Amino acid sequence: MNDKKSHEVLVMSQLVQSIANVCGVKEVIDLGAGKGYLSSYLSMKYNLKVYGIDSSDTNTDGANRRNRKLKKFWKAYKEDAKGASKIQESAQNNDYLLPNYSCQEVITDREFPNPKSCFPKLEELSVSHGVESINVLSEWKSGQESLCSTSQSAESDKTSAFLNILPADAVEEKTLSESICKSLSEQEKEQRKIENIRMKEQRCSHVYLPLTCKITEETDLNDIIEDLEESIMVGLHTCGDLAPNTLRIFTARSEIKAVCSVGCCYHLLSEEFESPTEERTVTTWGFPMSMHLKETSWFFGRNARMSACLALERVAVGQGLATESLFYRAVLQVILKDCFGITQSGKRVGKIFSKSGNFTDYVRKSLKKLGHDDSKISDKNITAYYEKYKPRQNELEAFNMLKVLLAPCIEALILLDRLHYLKEQNNLAWSGLVKLFDPVKSPRCYSVVSMKKPKDTIY
Ligand SMILES: C[S@@+](CC[C@H](N)C(=O)[O-])C[C@H]1O[C@@H](n2cnc3c(N)ncnc32)[C@H](O)[C@@H]1O
Repeated sequence: MNDKKSHEVLVMSQLVQSIANVCGVKEVIDLGAGKGYLSSYLSMKYNLKVYGIDSSDTNTDGANRRNRKLKKFWKAYKEDAKGASKIQESAQNNDYLLPNYSCQEVITDREFPNPKSCFPKLEELSVSHGVESINVLSEWKSGQESLCSTSQSAESDKTSAFLNILPADAVEEKTLSESICKSLSEQEKEQRKIENIRMKEQRCSHVYLPLTCKITEETDLNDIIEDLEESIMVGLHTCGDLAPNTLRIFTARSEIKAVCSVGCCYHLLSEEFESPTEERTVTTWGFPMSMHLKETSWFFGRNARMSACLALERVAVGQGLATESLFYRAVLQVILKDCFGITQSGKRVGKIFSKSGNFTDYVRKSLKKLGHDDSKISDKNITAYYEKYKPRQNELEAFNMLKVLLAPCIEALILLDRLHYLKEQNNLAWSGLVKLFDPVKSPRCYSVVSMKKPKDTIY
C-alpha cells in the first residue's frame, strides 16, 4: 500500500467505524473494494464484518491472497508469547496492517476528521439546507456537551466525537443514552460486562469476504450476500457510475443504514443529456442524479468531466500538471487533423508518453495504437511539427492552468448533485459532504455521507 492509500484507508476507516457505531451495525459493504485495502483494515482493526465487492476477478483474487497473508500474520503475531504486551499495544494501533509506515505522519493528533474543520466545508457545499444543517449541528454539539459527564469510555468518546458532526435526528436517542450517558446499576454493569465479553469473542473473527460482482443500480444485494443484515455501505474512489449507483442502492435498501462514498474518475460518468439524439439503451445515468438538475437537462461533456479529475491543490504545490505530455498530445492532434483528416475518434491514446523516448517515437506509437499507417509521415515532418508548436507551449500551459482553476467548480457541481439527490429523499436523517483527505495526498478528497432516519421516527 502506498503513502496515498495508507492515508485514505486510515482516515476513512475511522469515519466508517464511527458511523457504524452510531448506527449500531457491525456489517460493512465496500463497493469497488479493489484489492481490499479498506475492507481488510476495517475488519481487522475494527472487528467489522466486511463484504468487499469488486467487478474485477483479478482484484478479488489479489484481495483474497492479501487477506490470507494478513490473517496468517495476525495469527502468528498473537501466538508470539513474548509479544503479549506488544499485542495489547498493537491491538490499539494495528499499524502493521498499513505496511507503509509514513502514514503515521498523516494523522497523529486526532482520532477523527476534526468535526470543526468539517463545518466550513459543509457550509460551503450544502445546498438548500446548508444553514439549517449547521444550526442543527451546533445545537447538537452543545446539547451533547451538557448531557455528558466527564467520565466516558474511549468508545463513547469516539462515538460522541463523530456525533458532533451529525444533527440530533440522525441518531436514536435510545442508543445514545445507552452508550454514552446512562449511569448503570451494579447489576447492569455486571450484565454489560458479560455481554461485552461475548460480543468480543464473536467479533474476533475478523471477517472480510472479497466477492466479485459488477454493481449496477439494479443489483440485488441478496443475490451476492445471502444473510444480508443491517449494514453500512462504503466506497473508496469508486469510479464513474459506481458512486451514484452506490447512493441509489443505499436509498432503495432499508437494510443499508448509512453510506460513505468517495467517488473518482468523473470522466467515466455516463451523462443523460450529453447526446440527446443518440439512441438510449441505458435507463439510469451517472449524472445528473437530482431532479433539480434533471429539470434543466444539465450536462458537462467529456472535456469538462476530464477537467474535474485535475488536482488544483497538487498543481498549487508544483505537482500534478504533466505539461510535456499534454504538449505532445496537443501536437499529435494537429498531426492527426492535417495528415490523417481525423478530428474526432472514439479511440484513446492512453499512457504512451511515459513509454516514449522522444516526440517522434510518441507520434509513431500513438498512430499505431489509433490504427493509422505511420509510414505516411516522415520523421522530418514530425520534428517540423514539434518545432513549429514548441514556442506556443506556454499558451497551452496557461490554458491548462485555467482548466485546473475551474476543476473544483465542476467537481463541486457533480458532488452537489449527489447531495441534492439525497436531500430529495424523505427517508434520510442527515446528508452532507465531508472533506476527508489531504487533497495534496489524495485529490478526490470529498466523501458523500448520509444516514437513514431511525425506523421509529414519526415524520
Ligand atoms: C479506483 S479503484 C478503487 C479500489 C479500492 N476501493 C481502493 O481504494 O483501493 C475502483 C475499483 O472499482 C471497481 N469497480 C468499478 N466499477 C465497478 C462496478 N460497477 N462494480 C463493482 N466494482 C467496480 C474496479 O474494478 C476497481 O477495483
